[in-house]
Amino acid sequence: MIKIYPEAEISLIREACQIAAECLDVLVKSVHPGMTTEDLDMIAHGFLSERGVEAAFLGYRGYPKSICVSINEEVVHGIPSQKRKILNGDLVSIDIGTKLKGYFGDVATTLPVGNIGREKMRLLETGKKALDAAVEKAAENNTLYDISYAIQKIAEESGYSVVKEFVGHGIGVNLHEEPQVPNFGIPGTGPVLQEGMIFAIEPMVNMGTFKVEVLEDNWTAVTADGKPSVHFEHTIAVRKNKGEVLTCPKKSP
Ligand code: MF3
Ligand code: CO
Repeated sequence: MIKIYPEAEISLIREACQIAAECLDVLVKSVHPGMTTEDLDMIAHGFLSERGVEAAFLGYRGYPKSICVSINEEVVHGIPSQKRKILNGDLVSIDIGTKLKGYFGDVATTLPVGNIGREKMRLLETGKKALDAAVEKAAENNTLYDISYAIQKIAEESGYSVVKEFVGHGIGVNLHEEPQVPNFGIPGTGPVLQEGMIFAIEPMVNMGTFKVEVLEDNWTAVTADGKPSVHFEHTIAVRKNKGEVLTCPKKSP
């Protein structure tokens, strides 16, 4: 069953989402060559505790850190480490989950560090476009796989592939709820969308093969061919004409 959240609960989910988005902004502005992925985790942990918010990933199925940082061929779930330096030319994905008053938010972006070159830049732009297109499809009376297909279409038309083993998800009172939101699918099929459904939509777009492998740390997913991958994520509410992005930083009054 896909939950329909009433406005009062959507407001609480939005609060969790806004803080996740603000945290992501801080991290994006902090990234520079020479720092470690652990440095980013520490900044995130500090920011979230100051705002009175839990890091939703910390301890989730034994996950050891507050955020995920996945670089280049790493697709998702990279574990921050003192040993991993961010370098000029890296494609860095940062994924943050928050929990506030029992409600969850989930957001991710990928950013270029220094000069990443034309082809990686095109991959990055394609991933962004795929997420934007997916949000547009999160409208009442569309179907779930209209969202999925929008992602697949943009990725594949650009000559890239979408990851099949990891998916977006419903979110709200749990980090992961029904339904799964794949990054591929047949348009016009799947559950009919209704206003108040909440999804974390997260395209993962690979430059080469769609195949991924998980490293010995049991978390870090990497592309099977070692080519780069990008990951973008918003938590959205299904609305009449398009999805409402909940993971936007709060506008200052
Ligand atoms: N955004 C990812 C997801 O929804 C991040 C989860 S990381 C984990 O699956 F550590 F919490 F698993
Ligand atoms: Co997610």
